[in-house]
Amino acid sequence: MTHSIVLLPGDGIGPEVVSAAKQVLDAVAERFGFRLAYVEHLIGGIAIDEAGDPLPDSTIDACRASDAVLLGAVGGPRWDDPKARHRPEQGLLGLRRGLGLYANLRPVRPYPSLAAASPLKADRLVGVDMLFVRELTGGIYFGQPRFTEDTRDGGRRAVDTCEYTDHEIRRIVRLAFSLAEKRRGKLTSVDKANVLATSRLWRKVVDEVAVDFQGVVREHRLVDSTAMRLVTHPNDFDVVVTENMFGDILSDEAAVFVGSLGLLPSASLGDAGPGVYEPIHGSAPDIAGEGIANPIGTILSVAMMLRHSLDREDAARAIEAAVRRVIEGGARTHDLGGELGTQAMTDRVLAALETP
Ligand code: IPM
Ligand code: MG
Repeated sequence: MTHSIVLLPGDGIGPEVVSAAKQVLDAVAERFGFRLAYVEHLIGGIAIDEAGDPLPDSTIDACRASDAVLLGAVGGPRWDDPKARHRPEQGLLGLRRGLGLYANLRPVRPYPSLAAASPLKADRLVGVDMLFVRELTGGIYFGQPRFTEDTRDGGRRAVDTCEYTDHEIRRIVRLAFSLAEKRRGKLTSVDKANVLATSRLWRKVVDEVAVDFQGVVREHRLVDSTAMRLVTHPNDFDVVVTENMFGDILSDEAAVFVGSLGLLPSASLGDAGPGVYEPIHGSAPDIAGEGIANPIGTILSVAMMLRHSLDREDAARAIEAAVRRVIEGGARTHDLGGELGTQAMTDRVLAALETP
C-alpha cells in the first residue's frame, strides 16, 4: 500500500528541515515495509513570489487528495510589508481552515540531558509531560468582521472579532478529554472567562462534555495565571485544552521546558481527511540556507504523521525512540549550543534507526 504525502517546504529553513524529515520517513518506510509517494507544492512567501497567492488552488487540491501533509514553515521579512495584499501566514491559516483542521496537538516532554538548556531549575522539569490541544480554526484568528479603516476624525481603526460556537468548542474539548483519558487523566481548560463571552461559553461546554468523561479530572484556569503557573508548576499539567490564540501563546511558552523551539512537533487534525504535520518553530530567516537548523521538530512531526494519519504506530515509535537516544547520547545542533548541522543531526537519527 502506498501513502501519498504532500510536502510543503515553504520559506526560510522550511526546505532544509522538510528534506531532513523526508529522509527519516523514507528510512522507516523501508524498514517497516510500506511505500510513500511524494508531491511537492508551494505555500507561503515562495508561493506569493511564484504564483501570486500564498495558498494556490493547486496546493490545497493536492493536499485534499493526499493522505498527509508535511509542512516546513512560512513567512519572513521579505514579505513583511504591511501594505502587501498577501501575507505568507494567510497560506497556513487558509490551509488549516480549508482542510477543517480544528485540532492542533503539541506534545511537550523535556529530555533529561537537556535540562541545562532550559532556563528553569532542573528539579522543576522532572516528570514534565504535557499535551497542548489548541483549537485551530476559530476564535480571533478567523472571526468576522476584521478590517482596518480611516476614521472621520483623521485617525485609523482596526477590528478583529473573536467568535466561537458551541459546536466548535465541543468537538475540540471532546477530543481533549479522550486524549486525557488515555494519559494521566487530567484536563486543564484555559480561558479568560472573567472577561470574555466566548470564554464563558467555552467553560459551559467543557462542563457539559465532562459528564461523559467521569474518569478525567478537569479544572478551569484563567489564561493569565496559567502563563505563570506553567513555569512555576509545570508538573501540574497533563492535557491543556484552549482556544486558538491562547494555545498559540502558551505552547511557545512551554518550549522553554525543552530548551529549544526547534525540538517541538505538532499535528493538525480534522474529523476526516489528511492531517498537516509541522514543527512549531517558524521560518528562522536569520539562519536559512546555512544548513544549521535543528531538524528534530520536523522529524518528530513525521512520527506524529505516522501515528495519526498513516496508522503506523510502530514506525512512529521507532522514530521517537531514535530521536530520544540521539539526544540523550549528546548530539546537539547549534540552537542547543552544539556543532551539528541539519544533515549531521539527521544522519545521527538515521543511524539510530538502523540499530534499534
Ligand atoms: C503557529 C504559528 C502560526 C499561528 C503563525 C505562523 C500564523 O505561530 O503555528 O503557532 O499563529 O498559528
Ligand atoms: Mg505560534
